[in-house]
Amino acid sequence: MGIRYDGKARVFALDTPDSSYRIGIIDEEGFIAHLYYGRRVPDTDLRQILRVGFDPAESFARTGNQVKYAGTLPAEYPAGGTGDFRRPCLTVETVSGARDAVLVYRDHRIYAGKHRMKGLPAVYGTEKECTTLELDCADPVLGLEVTLSYTVFEQLDAIARSVSVRNPGGEPVRLTSVLSACLDMPNRDLDVLTLHGTWSSERMQNRRRLVWGKQGIASLRGISSHEENPFLALLEHTATQTQGQVWAMNLVYSGNFLAEAELSEQDQLRLVMGIHPDGFAWTLAAGECFTAPETVLVYSASGLDGMTHTFHDLYRAHLIRGAYRDKPRPSLVNNWEATYFDFDTDKLLSIARKASESGIEMFVLDDGWFGKRDSDTCSLGDWTVNEQKLPGGLKRLSEEIHRMGMKFGIWMEPEMVSPDSDLYRAHPDYALKTPGRAPALSRHQLVLDLSRREVRDCIYAKIHAVLSSAQIEYVKWDMNRPLTNVWSAELPPDRQGELYHRYVLGVYELQERMLTDFPDLLLENCCSGGGRFDPGMLYYSPQIWTSDNTEAIDRLKIQEGTALVYPLSSMGAHVAACPSHTNSRVTPFATRGLVSLCGCFGYELDLTKLTAEELAEIPGQLRAYAAYGDVFRTGDYYRIASFAENGEYDVLMAVSKDRRRAVLVYVQVLSRQKRPVPVVYPRGLDEQLCYRLSENGEKHSGAGWMHAGLPLPQMKGDFLGRLMVLEAEEEAE
Ligand code: DGJ
Repeated sequence: MGIRYDGKARVFALDTPDSSYRIGIIDEEGFIAHLYYGRRVPDTDLRQILRVGFDPAESFARTGNQVKYAGTLPAEYPAGGTGDFRRPCLTVETVSGARDAVLVYRDHRIYAGKHRMKGLPAVYGTEKECTTLELDCADPVLGLEVTLSYTVFEQLDAIARSVSVRNPGGEPVRLTSVLSACLDMPNRDLDVLTLHGTWSSERMQNRRRLVWGKQGIASLRGISSHEENPFLALLEHTATQTQGQVWAMNLVYSGNFLAEAELSEQDQLRLVMGIHPDGFAWTLAAGECFTAPETVLVYSASGLDGMTHTFHDLYRAHLIRGAYRDKPRPSLVNNWEATYFDFDTDKLLSIARKASESGIEMFVLDDGWFGKRDSDTCSLGDWTVNEQKLPGGLKRLSEEIHRMGMKFGIWMEPEMVSPDSDLYRAHPDYALKTPGRAPALSRHQLVLDLSRREVRDCIYAKIHAVLSSAQIEYVKWDMNRPLTNVWSAELPPDRQGELYHRYVLGVYELQERMLTDFPDLLLENCCSGGGRFDPGMLYYSPQIWTSDNTEAIDRLKIQEGTALVYPLSSMGAHVAACPSHTNSRVTPFATRGLVSLCGCFGYELDLTKLTAEELAEIPGQLRAYAAYGDVFRTGDYYRIASFAENGEYDVLMAVSKDRRRAVLVYVQVLSRQKRPVPVVYPRGLDEQLCYRLSENGEKHSGAGWMHAGLPLPQMKGDFLGRLMVLEAEEEAE
């Protein structure tokens, strides 16, 4: 496993437990071809694939058919303008206006471990866990140097790719696109799978046939977005949850992106991912370097299950960091849907008291505690406590909460400024806006220009002061609008194309500073619900608020789509009030608890308004979270039945890594009374072990449950749920 270079064949062989990746230097000029990515193979040299359009005995650059070949050659990192008319990864503009580029091989290094990416989130691993290849290439005419980095994980079918471009000297070069990864392969019968959505309906699975031409997803909102997630998978058309080949990419980035599959007229498939070229241009002066964000590639020969497990394992152990990486997350109550802006200390403490009596571990104070913020029309940027609402400030409130035996957390939205704020009145230029035009408002607010150090320092000083003012163990970092009027007072005209990316780097820097100064803090990112649920954010916060839609039945689909890529341990999931504030649906309290149980569990309602029966259910829900939370947090997740697909019921399952315990969450959305109960087929059990079903004490071997099936319990009514546990006992006969 790991990475080898076969100097004779001039092929780089990257191998993971079940996948192989091959890069070949295929002619004297050093053209770098992509030879293979797929199921593990013993061969190093797989250049037979080049015969599709090119005779490898010829020189690519010298042949009179260079342009023709360029369109059929599978390229490892294509540059634009010299005959490959598919989407290029690297495009440039020189001082003279020339736009063509060609990259050829120069050198390489292979080493154990992985270097950190300065200022950017990225997966990490020790020298024992991963190996890295750095492949240097260059455009001799432009004088540009490009390093393609690949990190291969020993235990996981994942490869992390990134790209750096350097201008060692001479004239400045304008980079007009630097995509992070490319995957060329011959056409086969494939589907495209992406996660599509909107506010309150994020990450719906969208699977369709791959067709001719370009098809893909993108965000140009300055955030990874509710609308499209930076994830794209290609699947064999026949692939299912459990079988078939899947090639997936996920961008470790929280801003504009492009993910695109292209089936060319030459029957070649190209998949690319990276920062969206629209609105992007980065000038590289002599001596400067640009690093594009990392893309994670995952290959699975065992359908979506295999892909999901690899992403979950990789992100839990090699992306998420900090004090809470391997720890249970505290159950919490958040006052947002309980009070919105209408609260005072007494109100908050009355909720907190009920929470503490019920055994909830943390109280989170949401929006509305600062400035004069009694609505969303003002005060963002004025991060000083409103003493009229909260006499004694956060300190007193935090002390009261801690006296009740709970942790204390707060909400902030550091990236924003309200026009009606002291900060904006003092520094109107701190907001993104173009000269002479009134900036577009969204939720009455503007976006701070976090590309500017001065602005970041100003905001960070405020964050630091707030977090130092009281015992605060958790921050919900919110971000409630897309970027518009993207112009910075500090950047020269020819560098305004850098602003989107510099903004994202600014967000990362702020979060890194905060976590460095407050290492025990539990950070939960949020973006109007799930508008920035991406691997970039996961590098800073082990959990992310999944959606503002807290209604249990809608959540089934949202959480299913999210869990396709992101670990259950990263999904904020709360029990909310009924009728639901999102869609007015009324569901049983128990079902709401069940749907939230698989994520970072909490409550988002006024506990003082619950009925005695509902209140009495909370300790049981918390006991279930304490008992089974670890299986969801650390185990293998299986999608057993999908309400999104069948329209009637939903079953998810998590199996502990030692396979001795499995937890199934069953939600009967629509009643099936007087019809046979559905039979589901659990997965991931040990065939040899004997498992006892908590429902009725029935015992069968793992093989028996998985192959003969598990009939779901009969329930009368809509929106009902059951938690079922399969616990291993003695060995099966
Ligand atoms: C949007 C978030 O998603 C909500 O949970 C809440 O924190 C509000 N913002 C507060 O303004």
